[in-house]
Amino acid sequence: MSEDSHSHSDAQSDSNDQVQEHGHSHDHDHDHGHSHGHDHGGHGHCSHSHDLSSEQDAEMEAISSVVASFLYYKTYALNNAIYRRLKCIDDLSEAHRMTVASLGTIDKIKQAEELIRENYKVMLDIVYSSTVGSMPDPADGTGAFKEWLKRFIESRESAGKQVASESHMKKLYGTMKLFVRDWSSEGAEERRLTYGPLVAALEDEFSTVASDSRGDLNVLVPGAGLGRLAYDICCRGFSTQGNEFSYFMLFASNYILNRSLKEDQHTLYPYVHQFSHVACTEDQMRAVHFPDALPRNMPYSATADFSMIAGDFVEVYSADDEKEKWDAIVTCFFMDTAKNVLAYLDTIWHALKPGAVWINLGPLLWHFDNVAGESSIEFTRDEFIELVKKTGFVFDEAKFKEDIALPYTADPKSMLQYTYSAFMCVARKPSM
Ligand SMILES: C[S@@+](CC[C@H](N)C(=O)[O-])C[C@H]1O[C@@H](n2cnc3c(N)ncnc32)[C@H](O)[C@@H]1O
Repeated sequence: MSEDSHSHSDAQSDSNDQVQEHGHSHDHDHDHGHSHGHDHGGHGHCSHSHDLSSEQDAEMEAISSVVASFLYYKTYALNNAIYRRLKCIDDLSEAHRMTVASLGTIDKIKQAEELIRENYKVMLDIVYSSTVGSMPDPADGTGAFKEWLKRFIESRESAGKQVASESHMKKLYGTMKLFVRDWSSEGAEERRLTYGPLVAALEDEFSTVASDSRGDLNVLVPGAGLGRLAYDICCRGFSTQGNEFSYFMLFASNYILNRSLKEDQHTLYPYVHQFSHVACTEDQMRAVHFPDALPRNMPYSATADFSMIAGDFVEVYSADDEKEKWDAIVTCFFMDTAKNVLAYLDTIWHALKPGAVWINLGPLLWHFDNVAGESSIEFTRDEFIELVKKTGFVFDEAKFKEDIALPYTADPKSMLQYTYSAFMCVARKPSM
């Protein structure tokens, strides 16, 4: 299904669209590694694996499928957003075609074609400036990367598959919108609403510690996406680690965190493929520049560490060396990504120091709800709070807030707006 053709009349497709907006797809088409931790602008973690070679194969398969998606972008977007539309106009009666042409619609589609080509340059740049996981370095001049990618594409083609799956291409479109949420001035309002209360709650917890002394406090942000919340926390002086397992996110955050030399250096046209819910052409074609803040200019870099760690949250942070290591854990739009949220709660418990705090904000879009072949246990918000208490946390009733209206990668100019009714909670692991 092309991104443009979804119908909002069908409840199931409606919920899938929201899932896509939320950044996930419900399929077996993995874009993440499970048990390998990788250095990503910080300190890496070891694998806790039993069967290393098959895990490495799975990891390489996941990375190559994501690399292939970035590289397939131009072909995919031109076929779906441009050529299909031009063909529809071609097939019109002459009278209709003339009317459509008189509106400038064909010029608009051709403009979109140019902007897709511009987007593609950024997709290439993201891949060619990355060395994620154990993928061969695209810039080492040996040709190993090209050879590796060629083998992957041939294996897809010989299996009769599209180079990159539909779900991966949707994730790529979603990743473009995450650049807006996390690293553009256009995303500032969404961040104020979403990250603002989390950062404020964290500062409130440690209000007696001066910003330049907070580097001794370790804050973990699981499911960090493109890393802005983790960055914002580090900008308040805390040593901060983001954790993420999607290679889409890891390639994209690596690009921002390690390859940005000046503010607003990069430009994307993230709405160019969106032909529905559009009020005017300028909205659809508008450019978004990023990053609006330069990660290399972190104010407390002398006192506070910043790192991004690749790997599955439960696998990485339930390890022995993570026990009681963290002074605070901050989760944002993350808890509902769990197949079994009890495992997330146990991991948060394990990783927090006694007396340390967990601050959470998000909706309950259980990501594996109704996904064929996947196990998933969904809870209501009230049940979730019960589970938090049963895990042993002291739930701060005074700080619990419900019905918080939040957007997620929303296009403020779109004629369709989704709003989550999220909740925020603060819970503490009791001191011994
Ligand atoms: C809905 S997104 C939210 C991203 C970010 N916190 C934000 O608010 O923009 C959830 C993120 O969690 C990541 N994620 C999901 N399950 C994970 C896991 N088990 N370990 C690490 N990251 C995970 C996803 O890849 C995705 O980037």
